[in-house]
Amino acid sequence: MRSRIDAARDAILSAGSLIKETFGRELSGEVKEKDRNDFVTATDLASEKLITETLRSAFPEIGILAEEKAAPGSGKELWVIDPLDGTTNFIHGYPSIGVSIALLVENRVEIGLVYDPLREELFEALRGEGAYCNSVRIRVSETAELTNALLGTGFPFKASGHIDRYLYLFKDLFLRCRGIRRAGAAVLDLSHVASGRLDGFFELHLQPWDIAAGSLLVQEAGGRVSDFFGEPYCISRGNIIASSPMIHGYLVEAASRIFDRDQLKELSNDLIQGEIKKGP
Ligand code: IPD
Ligand code: CA
Ligand code: CA
Repeated sequence: MRSRIDAARDAILSAGSLIKETFGRELSGEVKEKDRNDFVTATDLASEKLITETLRSAFPEIGILAEEKAAPGSGKELWVIDPLDGTTNFIHGYPSIGVSIALLVENRVEIGLVYDPLREELFEALRGEGAYCNSVRIRVSETAELTNALLGTGFPFKASGHIDRYLYLFKDLFLRCRGIRRAGAAVLDLSHVASGRLDGFFELHLQPWDIAAGSLLVQEAGGRVSDFFGEPYCISRGNIIASSPMIHGYLVEAASRIFDRDQLKELSNDLIQGEIKKGP
């Protein structure tokens, strides 16, 4: 795994430099709307090309699932890549963006890297070996009570049919915690849970590249990751709760009281072949 994490580190740092160079620049003509409020820029594409070429030349036998060319991925080993997380922030010059690379082996995340190019923070985890930020060990927070917790979330703008329940969950937690942040880059939200800056995070309808690396970071930092119903998380389902161990029960209790398991199944995808069958 060492040679794989080294190659992923080279790729993510180069992609981060490329993104940082374009951040804050005028992007006219470089932005396309893939779907309502879902954008791709020339920088997303350039970052993805750089990462995939770097990884493919080092490990031609490993499959690739990358956001902008999202064809279902399969195989014993699979890279899962978000070349620029927080594209809407990037377009607006709002400084919350990241890059994410994970390696799945038989559908289990073994390596996770997230890079924040603006803060120059590199989060890395190798299964069983802990989580690190710029080579310093990180751990989830020790916050035990929801009333003292700072939470992160994202709005389900691609699943507007679920907005009322989501807002109900938001209100339920908001009235009982210290605060809720929505910074617009799920890969950073998860990294901030891993480093104890956030006590918990919840979002629905995320994609495998949004959560694969970050979920390993949280687990390796001593946190818990599950779906909204407390079941072992499945990256193809996309509804996720990641938090310090003592906050987790509060979040699952609220999400499972408000959401219906069968209704959320419609938001699953089949991008990682076989994963959904093994999941909860
Ligand atoms: C988005 C970000 C955002 C989350 C969205 C994602 P993108 O990723 O992670 O925080 O709320 O659901 O799609 O499209 O900027 O890579
Ligand atoms: Ca993303
Ligand atoms: Ca992206």
